[in-house]
Amino acid sequence: MKTNLRIAAILTIATLVFVVHLGAAPAAGLGQAILTPKPPLEPRINGPSVYGGRPGHPFFYRIPCTGQRPIDFSATGLPGSLKLDRQTGIITGSTPNQRGNYVVTFGAKNARGSARRSFKIVVGDMLALTPPMGWSDWYTRYNRVTDALMRQAAEAMLASGMADFGYQYVNIDDCWMVKPGAKDPELDGPPRDASGAIQPNHRFPDMRALTDYIHSKGLKAGIYTSPGPLTCAGFVGSYQHEQIDARTFAEWGFDLLKYDWCSYGTVGGKTLEDYQKPYKLMGAILRGLDRDIVFNLCQYGMGQVSKWGGEVGGNSWRTTDDLGLRKETKLPGFYSIGFKNALHAEDAGPGRWNDPDYILIGYLGNAFKSEESPEPTALNGDEQYSYMSMWALMAAPLFFSGDLRMQYLDDFTLNVLCNAEVIAVDQDALGKQARIVRHTDDEFVLAKPLEDASLAVGLFNLTESSKPITVTWRDLGLRGGHRVRNLWRQKDGGTVDSQYSTRVNRHGVVLVRLIPQ
Ligand code: GAL
Repeated sequence: MKTNLRIAAILTIATLVFVVHLGAAPAAGLGQAILTPKPPLEPRINGPSVYGGRPGHPFFYRIPCTGQRPIDFSATGLPGSLKLDRQTGIITGSTPNQRGNYVVTFGAKNARGSARRSFKIVVGDMLALTPPMGWSDWYTRYNRVTDALMRQAAEAMLASGMADFGYQYVNIDDCWMVKPGAKDPELDGPPRDASGAIQPNHRFPDMRALTDYIHSKGLKAGIYTSPGPLTCAGFVGSYQHEQIDARTFAEWGFDLLKYDWCSYGTVGGKTLEDYQKPYKLMGAILRGLDRDIVFNLCQYGMGQVSKWGGEVGGNSWRTTDDLGLRKETKLPGFYSIGFKNALHAEDAGPGRWNDPDYILIGYLGNAFKSEESPEPTALNGDEQYSYMSMWALMAAPLFFSGDLRMQYLDDFTLNVLCNAEVIAVDQDALGKQARIVRHTDDEFVLAKPLEDASLAVGLFNLTESSKPITVTWRDLGLRGGHRVRNLWRQKDGGTVDSQYSTRVNRHGVVLVRLIPQ
């Protein structure tokens, strides 16, 4: 495991190799079929139907909604401590002091039509009742990340329409702090002030102003640190400053913390207790803050983290090492990460999610170049549909980490990221991760029960040519007639009553929702 800087350097080099490998690829969406129809001009309210918050804490939520602007939003049954901006659909205020469920009905109306949707605010101890969604700068910006780039990312999340589908968090990964011994003066400086409070590097002049800006867009802000003395990229970590750092992040206005093991191995042991210790500590500190901060554990799956990540206060935990460093074998790396992550299905549930890492499609950056040099993904269209389908079926946190700028976010990439029916599988309120129905050399089949008693099923073809795949009702535990909804095409098929068969492209997927009749 990554326990010291030498390993961090190797990782960074491996990242470089990976990214250079991508350089030979065609444009991200070139020649690939866009399967999903564009959202209609009339309003469609997206996003989860349940949302958890702690009593009396700051609350804000932007109603994700597609459709022609202007839209007039409404929220019937909104608790008195919350206020809706009817033009933007942004709700601000504080979560009610009284624990319990608050059922709100969202409305959205424009010149073309209207939509309504129920939204339950669950005031209690739990956060992230559905998997968090957003963007992380890591695979685009690496150690080049700045305040200005994060602001641009927030703007792009709105301009691209991603926020209208529920992408919400704008996360700074590694490299916002001071780097001891850095040659670059922008990264140099005192790592902490006289009181011990952590200082951002010169590329982040005012963290509070940055989160204010992100919040003003109705989005949330995420930050990153390590329980070790240094982060994986060699920047200052939170070791022995856990309390003050967590308080600082809350004062700065952050809403999510990724806590990355990195150099912690140099100061801790290797028993299960040692693995748990830093996360238990930070989990308890975060619970005591007067701000909701979603807690993302990143320690690459050590000590079977899925078994205890929730107990130590984690809302999600990486189950494997870095997807971006994964060696490609016969199949692209996301498959093997997905296969591993799928094994932990029973440990996932509302507020506690297995995290198979970011969604690396579109244009991705390069760790070692001092200037931006985005390169298109090497994955073909079918592989990208498989990637997103697998993540949605596994109720994975959905964090895109490719380039968000309009000139790089092509229509194909957006079509993979922004299919409301596919996202609804991920965000389903039941919070079940798909179980593995079949895994052979040739086929992988996942099935995810949904709140409305329907079943989302993904049929993945792992072979080198197109082939038919069949699942029987006995495989799926179903009975009777079911309507087949093709989720990528957003199209109804017929009714079937004992099995479902379909032809699936090489490395591709057919993702359906089987709806009992
Ligand atoms: C890795 C982590 C990556 C990224 C990187 C930053 O350990 O798994 O997701 O955060 O560190 O240096």
